[in-house]
Amino acid sequence: RAEVVINGSSSPAVVDRSNETIKHNIQPASAKWRHNQTLSLRIRKQILKFLDAEKDISVLKGTLKPGDIIHYIFDRDSTMNVSQNLYELLPRTSPLKNKHFGTCAIVGNSGVLLNSGCGQEIDTHSFVIRCNLAPVQEYARDVGLKTDLVTMNPSVVQRAFEDLVNATWREKLLQRLHSLNGSILWIPAFMARGGKQRVEWVNELILKHHVNVRTAYPSLRLLHAVRGYWLTNKVHIKRPTTGLLMYTLATRFCSQIYLYGFWPFPLDQNQNPVKYHYYDSLKYGYTSQASPHTMPLEFKALKSLHEQGALKLTVGQCD
Ligand code: CTP
Repeated sequence: RAEVVINGSSSPAVVDRSNETIKHNIQPASAKWRHNQTLSLRIRKQILKFLDAEKDISVLKGTLKPGDIIHYIFDRDSTMNVSQNLYELLPRTSPLKNKHFGTCAIVGNSGVLLNSGCGQEIDTHSFVIRCNLAPVQEYARDVGLKTDLVTMNPSVVQRAFEDLVNATWREKLLQRLHSLNGSILWIPAFMARGGKQRVEWVNELILKHHVNVRTAYPSLRLLHAVRGYWLTNKVHIKRPTTGLLMYTLATRFCSQIYLYGFWPFPLDQNQNPVKYHYYDSLKYGYTSQASPHTMPLEFKALKSLHEQGALKLTVGQCD
């Protein structure tokens, strides 16, 4: 039986954006939040029963060889062959091997970060995780610059870099990759068949231009393991978002976890409009039946953990 009360409800949340916004009032960042170390350790232990971030963060070189066939996690009937490039970029050892950090920031991509002034605070954390290659330079005051790990769903190549249709877009992606400067680039390459070509393009760019990044490709079992953990705790997610995946992984190697940019609602706590992403014009789509995510439900679980001191959510301005 689950030991940590995360959701308290056994039924899937009804997604009603306007009401959810009102219900999710969070204390300002400066309010008296206290880290609950006992609870954090208990959560780490429980998550370790489902997955181990050290192992599941990436498939290792020793476990695959070029030509091996992999079934996509969400398209079991579709397969891919491990290419020579992918093989070359697989890490030999886990990029998180024996890693431990005092405080970690996980930066989600909500527009709630705009005008937050959180950049400086984010950059003080020992390990900073960002999602989907979100831009930082132009938004440094609100989101910071430090990046130790950044995720990149293959769809980013299409959404943010026009599927590299010409040299200009290829150059833009290349510059962004160069700017990562030794960080871990985490590419979920085995999730869905749609990403096949895009992952290959990125791998090729990295190798051809000797880009200084440490590539990681999550294990085949990670998604199901993460989902399993949350379902056991009565959080009925369809498919975990990148942000929730990162939190779940971070519990293994971070003593304290601080979340910024997690706000899947179109209005803020003062009823002002909030952009879906801080950096582009993507619209809210998570309520549609087609969306694989259940972000407001995830948010509810994270908020509950915030209230219990297991993590700290910042959804307003930083001090
Ligand atoms: N996020 C959030 N509120 C938003 C936007 C994002 O809480 N308005 C969080 C989610 O946890 C999300 C993470 O920030 O996973 C990164 O955002 P995004 O790049 O949009 O990630 P995904 O939705 O997971 O990516 P995708 O749409 O490619 O599945």
